[in-house]
Amino acid sequence: MTRPAGGGCAQAIPLTDREYAWFTVFLRRRSGIELREGKQTLVTSRLEPRLRHHGLTAYGDYFRMLGGPDAAAETRIAVDLMTTNETYFFREPQHFEQLPELIAASAGAGRPVRVWSAASSTGEEAYSIALTLAECAKNRSWEVVGTDLCTRVLSTARRGLFPLESARSRIPEPLLRAHCLRGRGEYEGLLTLVPALRARVTFRRVNLTRPLPELGSFDVVFLRNLLIYFAADTKRQVVDRIAATLRPGGCLLIGHAETLTGLGSTLRAVRPSVYRLAGPGEERSR
Ligand SMILES: C[S@@+](CC[C@H](N)C(=O)[O-])C[C@H]1O[C@@H](n2cnc3c(N)ncnc32)[C@H](O)[C@@H]1O
Repeated sequence: MTRPAGGGCAQAIPLTDREYAWFTVFLRRRSGIELREGKQTLVTSRLEPRLRHHGLTAYGDYFRMLGGPDAAAETRIAVDLMTTNETYFFREPQHFEQLPELIAASAGAGRPVRVWSAASSTGEEAYSIALTLAECAKNRSWEVVGTDLCTRVLSTARRGLFPLESARSRIPEPLLRAHCLRGRGEYEGLLTLVPALRARVTFRRVNLTRPLPELGSFDVVFLRNLLIYFAADTKRQVVDRIAATLRPGGCLLIGHAETLTGLGSTLRAVRPSVYRLAGPGEERSR
């Protein structure tokens, strides 16, 4: 492969059908993410910088690197690059409006309220939950756990600094005034939550397609806009694993474009995108 004279753009590195097929299996095994047919351009646009980083000119060489021993660090980078991390504050706002009621219905009453943002991306979802709990769980202790597979987004989430303009347009005004801080000096143009709220939100790396680490039990789990990337079997396993972390009467929230229909889950739909684990004395369905 030669670079064009005069410092122009480097030529695209071709990805063969066989190489693409190998990578779809590799990605599914490590993340559950299904690459449907015709996503070659997505793969090349995300991975090509890694080939160039390693001075490689063929996907076959890069994939041999991923398949070889000592590939853990590069595998993590490649998988991170294939995740889609779109998120924003108070996305699908109905869930935040319903949160006070869902918490009240969980059998965790008396214990600290615990909410899990199970595919938290850069953290806006977990911090939106915290802003909501700061108002509706004032007299109770509470915590939010955010998890994601992608290490890159987790470091943004832990940093907890967000572009002011887009955050301000989505966070309700009273919550902004009561619980958010505007950056000054080197933080100009950024927004963060007050330290007392941030301290109640923690992030860790969890791959939902593997057995879960010990996370404790939750009143509400947000699992929004991830299931769409999974095949039915993977969805079923992930949902069953998460259902096992719910307190009796606790709820799982999924994205409005997603459904648990056909997965045979023990959770019962209580309204679109809201599923509830039976409370004490109630019968479970399957
Ligand atoms: C589109 S974002 C959803 C963010 C947020 N829940 C929302 O609805 O705005 C999907 C997230 O799922 C994460 N993800 C992908 N595969 C995962 C897996 N196997 N385990 C945990 N998180 C995963 C991605 O890294 C990404 O940040």
